Amino acid sequence: MKILVIGSGAREHALARALALDPATSAVVVAPGNPGTARLDSTENTPVDAEDPDAVAALAQRIGADLVVVGPEAPLVAGVADAVRAVGIPVFGPDAAAARIEGSKAFAKEIMAAAAVPTAMAHVCTTLIEVEAAMDSFGAPYVIKDDGLAAGKGVVVTEHRTAALAHAQACLDHASVVVEEYLDGPEVSLFCLADGRTVVPLAPAQDFKRLLDGDDGPNTGGMGAYSPLDWAPEGLTEQVVERVALPAVRELANRGTPFVGLLYCGLALTSRGLRVIEFNARFGDPETQVVLARLQSSLATALHAAATGSLHELPPLRWSEDAAVTVVLASHGYPASARRGDVISGLEAAEAIPDVHVLHAGTATNEAGELVTAGGRVLSVTATGTDIPAARAAAYAGVDAIAIPGGQHRTDIAAGL
Ligand code: AMP
Ligand code: GLY
Repeated sequence: MKILVIGSGAREHALARALALDPATSAVVVAPGNPGTARLDSTENTPVDAEDPDAVAALAQRIGADLVVVGPEAPLVAGVADAVRAVGIPVFGPDAAAARIEGSKAFAKEIMAAAAVPTAMAHVCTTLIEVEAAMDSFGAPYVIKDDGLAAGKGVVVTEHRTAALAHAQACLDHASVVVEEYLDGPEVSLFCLADGRTVVPLAPAQDFKRLLDGDDGPNTGGMGAYSPLDWAPEGLTEQVVERVALPAVRELANRGTPFVGLLYCGLALTSRGLRVIEFNARFGDPETQVVLARLQSSLATALHAAATGSLHELPPLRWSEDAAVTVVLASHGYPASARRGDVISGLEAAEAIPDVHVLHAGTATNEAGELVTAGGRVLSVTATGTDIPAARAAAYAGVDAIAIPGGQHRTDIAAGL
């Protein structure tokens, strides 16, 4: 199989790496890719405007792709999967209509209400008066969400009324605002492959969304992750499939917008039971880095089965008993901004550590041929080990080998497990 991967983050590097190592794959093309994907065996980068549906479809035809895998949400919401499907090439990723489950929080709430999927109570507001009334009805801590795509950064959870109102006002300038009931309890990310009808869960993972140690500071796209979750209740995956993923997939199919791709179920295990925090229409980043590090079955075969409506024929997925931990290295200023051009050193030393691999995201090569920062999240240092402490020790040994001037990372990813 020749596979075209769309995107340029560490998630796409993880996907391309797993696909390139897969005997079912003959070649991988990543568009636009990053300096890390450029170095993978049997893989090449090619430029494309990833959010231009016609450009991606034309590229898929030109290279003779057997499967297109769309990494980020923006191309999906822009209709890239629709365009590739229209030229008859299997694509792993939902049409724009189904990707709205991520693109609009109000739409996601509507689907969950219709399918009786447990989630936080919420009000969609278009004025500050409505926002205040909703905040009063739920009480503190306040959860204020931008009703649009914000790469995980459009959500503010705060005890402070003025901070909540300030964020609501900023959102109201361009979109409506969702005010939600606060959900307590640990978070779990469960990825489900979906072919429009059948759902196949991957291994659960946990993400660290806040910038700073101790879950402090602003929300980010994700600063680290680990899998498996030895503390998770028995039967959690089956429960999420039955109560969350399958009902949502059926509801979308009944509306004539079947979901083909990755349904990311972001969950809170609250004192009152399982609740959905959010759906995403694509693989999570950085959870993908740890989930794929543990997958032993053919990723290409699984994604192709989802893209062609044959997940019911897919043999059960096999998972390594090993644990995986990823620590994200971010640039100076992230998440508010991202300083570019800082020289990254120590990568080879990190990759020489057994069981460590480094995935690129916001990196670039400067005129002197040096690797430099070029985005918010720069690298995902990923390691496997016989258990979480072993994987964590290897991942942090990798982190310690790498230097980024002004760089930031958390020191408590997967700590205390
Ligand atoms: P979202 O973009 O909806 O995933 O929200 C980003 C992060 O904000 C989540 O991963 C949670 O950590 C936090 N969050 C979102 N909604 C809630 C909620 N209702 N209660 C508590 N925390 C939340
Ligand atoms: N790590 C969270 C996300 O991908 O949305």
